[in-house]
Amino acid sequence: MGQIDLTVTIAGKTLPNPVGTASGTFGFGEEYSPLIDINALGAIYTKALTPEERPGNTPPRLAETTAGLINSIGLANPGLNKFLTEKVPILQNITAPIIVNVAGATQSDYIKVCEAMEECAPVWGVELNVSCPNVDHGGMSFGTSPPLLARLVAAVRKVIKKPLIVKLSPNVADISEPARAAEDAGADALSCINTLTAMKVDIHRRKPLIPRGTGGLSGPAILPIGVAAVWRSAKAVKIPVIGVGGISRPEDALEYLLAGACAVQTGTTLFTHPNTPLRVLSGIEQYMEQQGFQSISELHGFF
Ligand SMILES: Cc1cc2nc3c(=O)[nH]c(=O)nc-3n(C[C@H](O)[C@H](O)[C@H](O)COP(=O)(O)O)c2cc1C
Repeated sequence: MGQIDLTVTIAGKTLPNPVGTASGTFGFGEEYSPLIDINALGAIYTKALTPEERPGNTPPRLAETTAGLINSIGLANPGLNKFLTEKVPILQNITAPIIVNVAGATQSDYIKVCEAMEECAPVWGVELNVSCPNVDHGGMSFGTSPPLLARLVAAVRKVIKKPLIVKLSPNVADISEPARAAEDAGADALSCINTLTAMKVDIHRRKPLIPRGTGGLSGPAILPIGVAAVWRSAKAVKIPVIGVGGISRPEDALEYLLAGACAVQTGTTLFTHPNTPLRVLSGIEQYMEQQGFQSISELHGFF
């Protein structure tokens, strides 16, 4: 192998390879270090970070489905201060690029966290979570309204020079509209997709299993939806698009790359197979070698 260029460039900065771990499924990075070589990852996307600490939603927060997982975590996280004092000293020792997933109820929440991330040395870039279906304020409402999204991205862009990735929601009629709005407002890249609104009913209690009623569906069930969202978004914009949703095998990641993604993230699969991202990476490398590709960017543009 050796000769294959696996690097990915976003806004002039390089990721060592195209396979990262999806936000909310990998903590703040260090939690998985006893299980896999986290420094071999292309990127670590952290759990969502908000200005204040959040306990998250009332349990149960997870419901298994035939081919996926419904979650309603509700952006549980330590908040900005504890992130800076407790997480950053650990992140300093990780060499894989750290991309902080930023969430908020208001525009000023996002700005506060992004300002801090701009000054925070171990942070490579930010991923704006405008697509969380599990909170009452903010979250998905930014990602499903192109004008609101444009205002948010433009405001955040003013405070951050580091790579700014906007994570889109699949819970829209046409994802190319928020994709274009984010690009026009200054995003450096997009990631597609966050989870899909979903419900599981407990037939014995005759109530939804998750107290909020709905949660977000992830896992193998959403792979074809994510691939279609990436394909549509990549056709609509010139900035790079990162594919996420339902990846558990190298073939799944290759679908995303061929559909126009520059990189991918693996999420739900990590709960049962923590080694998935590294297995996916070596499968991509093998495919490229067998098929005669020399760089990841050559995988785009066939359809
Ligand atoms: C338990 C759980 C928590 C999540 N938390 C976040 C989050 O904090 N921020 C975010 O942008 N996405 C979050 N997501 C969505 C994932 O990052 C990813 O977009 C989604 O799960 C689809 O990928 P997958 O099918 O590989 O899991 C979460 C997903 C799960 C399963």
